[in-house]
Amino acid sequence: MCGIVGILGSQPVAPLMLDALRRLEYRGYDSAGVATLEDGELVRRRAPGKLNNLQGVLGNGPLSGTTGIGHTRWATHGAPTETNAHPHSAGGVAVVHNGIIENFRDLREELETDGYRFETQTDTEVVVQLISREMKEGKAPKDAVFATLQRLDGAFALGIIFSGQQDLMIGARRGSPLAIGYGDGEMFLGSDAVALAPFTNKVTFLDEGDWVVLTRNSAQIHDETGAAVERPIRFTQASAYLADKGNHRHFMAKEIAEQPEVIGHTLGEYIDMAEQRVKLPELPFSFADLTRVTITACGTASYAGLAAKYWFEQIARLPVEVDIASEFRYREAPLPDGGLSVVISQSGETADTLAALRYCAGQGQHTVGIVNVQDSSIARECDAILPTYAGPEIGVASTKAFTCQLTVLACMALAAARQRNTITPEQERELVSALVGVPRHIADILRNESELERIAKKLTSARDVLYLGRGINYPIALEGALKLKEISYIHAEGYAAGELKHGPIALIDEDVPVIVIAPHDTLYEKTVSNMEEVAARGGKIVLLTDEINGNGNGAETFEQFRVPRANSFINPMLYAVPVQLLAYHAAVFMGTDIDQPRNLAKSVTVE
Ligand code: M6R
Repeated sequence: MCGIVGILGSQPVAPLMLDALRRLEYRGYDSAGVATLEDGELVRRRAPGKLNNLQGVLGNGPLSGTTGIGHTRWATHGAPTETNAHPHSAGGVAVVHNGIIENFRDLREELETDGYRFETQTDTEVVVQLISREMKEGKAPKDAVFATLQRLDGAFALGIIFSGQQDLMIGARRGSPLAIGYGDGEMFLGSDAVALAPFTNKVTFLDEGDWVVLTRNSAQIHDETGAAVERPIRFTQASAYLADKGNHRHFMAKEIAEQPEVIGHTLGEYIDMAEQRVKLPELPFSFADLTRVTITACGTASYAGLAAKYWFEQIARLPVEVDIASEFRYREAPLPDGGLSVVISQSGETADTLAALRYCAGQGQHTVGIVNVQDSSIARECDAILPTYAGPEIGVASTKAFTCQLTVLACMALAAARQRNTITPEQERELVSALVGVPRHIADILRNESELERIAKKLTSARDVLYLGRGINYPIALEGALKLKEISYIHAEGYAAGELKHGPIALIDEDVPVIVIAPHDTLYEKTVSNMEEVAARGGKIVLLTDEINGNGNGAETFEQFRVPRANSFINPMLYAVPVQLLAYHAAVFMGTDIDQPRNLAKSVTVE
């Protein structure tokens, strides 16, 4: 996660950009840089390390331009050196970028074959070179950017300026946030409203796929097809910026929408993008020495643990026991000498999880915490922590923390597999590449949110809803049911699809929607058989799958929603999103208090 800012100003913008970047430093501080137009020419100042270093560089070489872009970097591709620091510039184009360009290797190869030379290890430089190539071929800046956007895969936000174009800046977002700030004869771009707070409280948050052409007096927004579109302008209270809902009605909606970005950030922490392999911080044990892992957590976090069991066992051949912390803490479970205990908690304060951690520590286990709040009690008491980089999660229903927990656990399972020699380097690269695609796939799912909203409306008349999944999708069925019941108050249960016939099938009739999570993985046909059992009893099947068939492969479906087809390794992260959105929209229709549902608390510090 990086921070970006852009200013079309009426006075020198470098000091203003420093101020904005300071507010964005929470997003990363591996390096920082600015580019301005000095007499029409692009001039950059960049420095590795924190913003103070850039401030020093600007002190020695001030910039006076009134058009500029700035960046604070959290390194993904390439070491945090000055050369790799943004803005990147070539051929009269300068770019700042937050996110990941997944297909940068192919694009770089293509450009190099075409005679373009690269000076950095970053993925961003291909954006600069593509735009400049389009312009060399005669396109205007706006058309060159639009053409370039069509070539990029991944999740990103961009800010772009051009030499000789004092009154032009282009911004684009896909998967990573970007806001426009309106001044009086000035215009701003920023990763969030916090960055823009010193300049304006009049803000537009770009929608997924949008790009914008800014001058000092205009902002022309386009959607991903290139069509001109209108987006609402909001007046935001400066004091509310840090807990701002952006364009969203609820924090839960905002947090669902943030998933491409925060998963991208989390991946950047645990993946060496250049080598395409997992890089975990040093841990005080080797996975090769372990005979068993014990995972404990509560609620949604425990379902992340359950999904991880499939990854650890199948890929790293490492047996895993998963238990809910409130049971585990009193179970007096015998644990193997020198074993590993993993606790998962968004808040890091959940009393039962903390007690489970203490039990494991008392039994001589190595303890690793997967936490979102890094100075929490659980974080402090673990031997090591593997943080999720989800940012503050305010909605009581856990969404982005869950998918970030899954992301960390997937990386951990790959690291374990490498140490245990159960995976080849090629297999690791293939799975890492699948993981890097998660933000893009989730952005695609979010684009089809209205379909889920329509389906969700049909759930609101149900008294009971069942969720079915097999294999690694079973925890997602549990999570879907938990999400629906906690915010819409509709009774819901998640079951392993194969378990249906052992009892729950008695509940099925035409009034019971059954949400089936069934990607085309090795278990798909088995799940189809279970769907047929439901259909035969008049149950209404809502099928979440990656290929839509007219009839759900035999079984009659009531509704279908398509999730992008991907390596089955990453399916839990992808299928988590439609179940979150079904619950969210059902709750909106029911008119419940979505961010603070009755009887619940965000941090459960009591037993
Ligand atoms: O902070 P934690 O991750 O330890 O919280 C665990 C559960 O209380 C939490 O996941 C809860 O189930 C959520 N409300 C579910 O959306």
